Amino acid sequence: MNQERIQPTSLRDKVITAQEAAQFFKNGMTVGSSGFTRAGDSKAVLKALAARKHTDELKITLITGASLGHDVDGQLAENNILAKRMPFQTDSILRKYINSGEVLFIDQHLGETAELINNKHLPEIDIAVIEVAMIKADGSVIPTTSIGNSATFIEKAKAIILEINLSIPTSIEGIHDVFYPGEYPNRKIIPITQANTIIGQNSIPLDISKVIGIVFTNIADSPATIAEPDQKTIAIASYLLDFLRDEIKAGRLTNSLLPLQAGIGKVANAIFEGFVDSEFHDLTMYSEVLQDSTFDLIDAGKLTFASASSITVSSACYEKIFMNFDKYKDKILLRPQNISNAAEVIRRLGIIAINTAIECDIYGNVNSTHVYGTKMMNGIGGSGDFARNAYLCIFVTQAASKGNNISHIVPMVSHVDHTEHDVDIIVTDYGLADLRGLAPRERAIKIINNCSHPDYRPLLLDYYQRACQEGGHTPHLLNEALEWQARLIETGSMKVDEFALV
Ligand code: COA
Repeated sequence: MNQERIQPTSLRDKVITAQEAAQFFKNGMTVGSSGFTRAGDSKAVLKALAARKHTDELKITLITGASLGHDVDGQLAENNILAKRMPFQTDSILRKYINSGEVLFIDQHLGETAELINNKHLPEIDIAVIEVAMIKADGSVIPTTSIGNSATFIEKAKAIILEINLSIPTSIEGIHDVFYPGEYPNRKIIPITQANTIIGQNSIPLDISKVIGIVFTNIADSPATIAEPDQKTIAIASYLLDFLRDEIKAGRLTNSLLPLQAGIGKVANAIFEGFVDSEFHDLTMYSEVLQDSTFDLIDAGKLTFASASSITVSSACYEKIFMNFDKYKDKILLRPQNISNAAEVIRRLGIIAINTAIECDIYGNVNSTHVYGTKMMNGIGGSGDFARNAYLCIFVTQAASKGNNISHIVPMVSHVDHTEHDVDIIVTDYGLADLRGLAPRERAIKIINNCSHPDYRPLLLDYYQRACQEGGHTPHLLNEALEWQARLIETGSMKVDEFALV
């Protein structure tokens, strides 16, 4: 029965155990693995590699689509198997190894990794480990709940290990759209003109002579943890929805908006829930990740189509999708991440991009990745791909957190991921700053007055006014600009003694 999932009979003797597959990895190899936001990742082979006993040095460079599930990243880090990791991660253990310098991490735009591999700007992939639902008679493979960089890994790797996941029904065939833009200088146009445009084929072509092992698994994806909207996220969502309503009144958008991209998390959930009982209709998504709220909006009849690179949902939603797959199948598409995040397509479709910031500064620069300017949190993910090319680039954050000891609006960000040139709108639980058409001095006033927490507003205004006295197009006091973050590290709070201000 399992063998039916390997339609080319010549491949059936390639079935091995995960432990046997783990023996293929040698020190210094570059490994490409499926997996995007914990969906469609390797659940057996990388785990067996992490558990493999080794006395000699065994360190690899691991490239994936995005984050992995099942604690695999942490296990690989703890067993000293990761020399270098890219392009994204969310594992708390791996994060420690990255921040201690024991694992080197390349924080990369998710849309770029496949480009860098294609252009030979990264080392050649020695082994690709790819989760699939089945191998078709023509040798091509049907991915599972994500595509990520799998099409590129399969095309470019010297050797391939396939993990056939029996927990994924073969009826998943048909939700993938695999397209290769080709090589420079003759690259093709990516002809996506709407979120639902199909441009490629529904399986990934594969040279079966490269397959060195096939491993069966029966393990579901790690579920997404869904944080319920709270007062702050509901406030952010309501400012944002009111802003979109104003855009409709001004004739710049219709009730169907333009395709939406939203980072994963509770703000996105709150916004999407806000759409459920609203006047918005016939919405579409062109994003990276399909999350619970995507399927809730489809159920509510509000969302007509959603395109992304992965399905990352809670266990309950996972069950709902696969129990009612026919209901969703023609409303979703998964694409390679260099297509879901392609600048060309994002610009053409006019995406409304909503992502979360760690901190924003008074001029609209955004830090999405580094806590205290030095410690990696997760990575830039796809936020940069979308932010730079979106029709509307929106960043959300709490005005303040941790007992209001952290202000997320600061004089100067301690690390820049998204520059003031890309950021159109900043929203916090205190309000929204529409920065379009504003010069730096106008932006500062708007961000401070509309978005900052009242505990920090006088401090920010004081900083800005004193900086203006020194002059400049973007006024700053360089010896003070990062004092807020330094104070947080030193004292646990960005607050100052109010008398110290004078
Ligand atoms: N200073 C110090 N610490 C800060 C901070 C700041 N300005 N902002 C956040 N932190 C800390 C929080 O206190 C929290 O620490 P804890 O775990 O000890 O409580 C941690 O960083 C995470 O913050 P939190 O508010 O829980 O984050 P979040 O879940 O809302 O995620 C990002 C925010 C920015 C980390 C997340 O959205 C991200 O990784 N974004 C980049 C990738 C991306 O945008 N992808 C989108 C395309 S899918």
